[in-house]
Amino acid sequence: MIRRWHILGAGAMGRLFACKLLRLGLEPALLTRAGGRRRERLVLRLDQREESLGCDAVGVPALQVAEIEGLLVTTKANQALTAVQSCQTALAPGAPIILLHNGMGVLEALADSGLNLLAGTTTEGAYLDGNILVHAGFGDTVIGREGESAPRWFRSFASAAERISWTSEIDDALWKKLLINCAINPLTALHRCRNGALLDNPALRAEMELLCEELAVVSAARCNVRAASCALDWALSVVQRTAANQSSMLQDVLQGRETEIRYITGYLVEEARRLGVPCPRNEALLRQLDSAAVSH
Ligand SMILES: NC(=O)c1ccc[n+]([C@@H]2O[C@H](COP(=O)([O-])OP(=O)(O)OC[C@H]3O[C@@H](n4cnc5c(N)ncnc54)[C@H](OP(=O)(O)O)[C@@H]3O)[C@@H](O)[C@H]2O)c1
Repeated sequence: MIRRWHILGAGAMGRLFACKLLRLGLEPALLTRAGGRRRERLVLRLDQREESLGCDAVGVPALQVAEIEGLLVTTKANQALTAVQSCQTALAPGAPIILLHNGMGVLEALADSGLNLLAGTTTEGAYLDGNILVHAGFGDTVIGREGESAPRWFRSFASAAERISWTSEIDDALWKKLLINCAINPLTALHRCRNGALLDNPALRAEMELLCEELAVVSAARCNVRAASCALDWALSVVQRTAANQSSMLQDVLQGRETEIRYITGYLVEEARRLGVPCPRNEALLRQLDSAAVSH
C-alpha cells in the first residue's frame, strides 16, 4: 500500500489526478519546480459546477531523501526526463514511477536508470482556465508494464481513482495512442484548426488519410497487425468525438510553448528509420513543426 502519491507536473492532468485521489480521501502531494511545503486550493469545474479541494504542494528542492513512495509523472513528454531526474534522490528504493504523458521515448531514455518505471496513457480531457481546472471530458486510463500482471499497490490506486485499469499489453496501448496523436496533432497544429476540420476540410482529410497509410506501413513492419489495419479508423473516431477540441499541440503552438512533436512524430520517424520503412509525409510534418518551434 502506497500511503501518498506524489504528482510531478501540476498542470491540467496532474491536478485532475490529484482531485481524483483527494475525492476519495487520499492525500496526494503536487510537486512543483520551486517553493516549500504549502497547502493549495484546487478548483475543479465540471459542466457548470465548481468544486474546491485543498491539496498539499511541495517544491522539489524541499523534498527529503526517500520521501516519495509512488510518483505519477504528468509533465509534457519533453519535460519528463528532466523532471524525473530532478527528484531522483527523493525516491524511496523501488518506488513505482508512472509516466502518463503523450508520445514515446522517455521510457527508453530512462531504461538504464534502475528506476521502477511504468507507462500509462489516458483519454481524459482537461485544461486550465486561469487557475480553474476544467474537466472537459471523461476518459479511461490504462497503466502497465509489458507482460507483467498488476503489482499489489495497483489495486488501491485503481480503486481510488475511477476508470483506471491495468494492462499487460501496454506497448500496444502506447503505440495506438502514438498513431492517433501522429494523425491528428501535427496537422491541427500546422493548420491552426480544431480537430473537426480534419473531417470537414477535404484537403486536410486527404492529408490525414495519407499520414495514416504511412502509420499503417510502419505498424506492419513492427508486426503490429491490428494497428496496421485500424490506424485510420482510430484517428477518425477520435476526430469525430473531439471535433470541437483544440489538440494539445495546437494549444502549445498558439501559446508559443515547445511542443511534444519530437516524442510523437519524431518517435514515429525514428522507428520507421530503424525498420527501413519510408514515411516522407510524417518526416515533412516533423521538419515543419520543428522549424516552427525554432522560429518562436
Ligand atoms: N490535458 C489533457 O487533456 C491531456 C489529455 C491526454 C493526455 N495529455 C498529456 O498529458 C501530459 C500533461 O499534459 P497537461 O495538459 O497536463 O500539460 P500541462 O498543463 O502543461 O502540465 C505540465 C505541468 O508540468 C510542469 N512541469 C514541467 N516540468 C517540470 C519540472 N521539472 N518540475 C515540476 N513541474 C514541471 C509544468 O510546469 P510549467 O508550466 O511551469 O512548465 C506544468 O505545470 C502531456 O503529455 C499531454 O499530452 C493531456
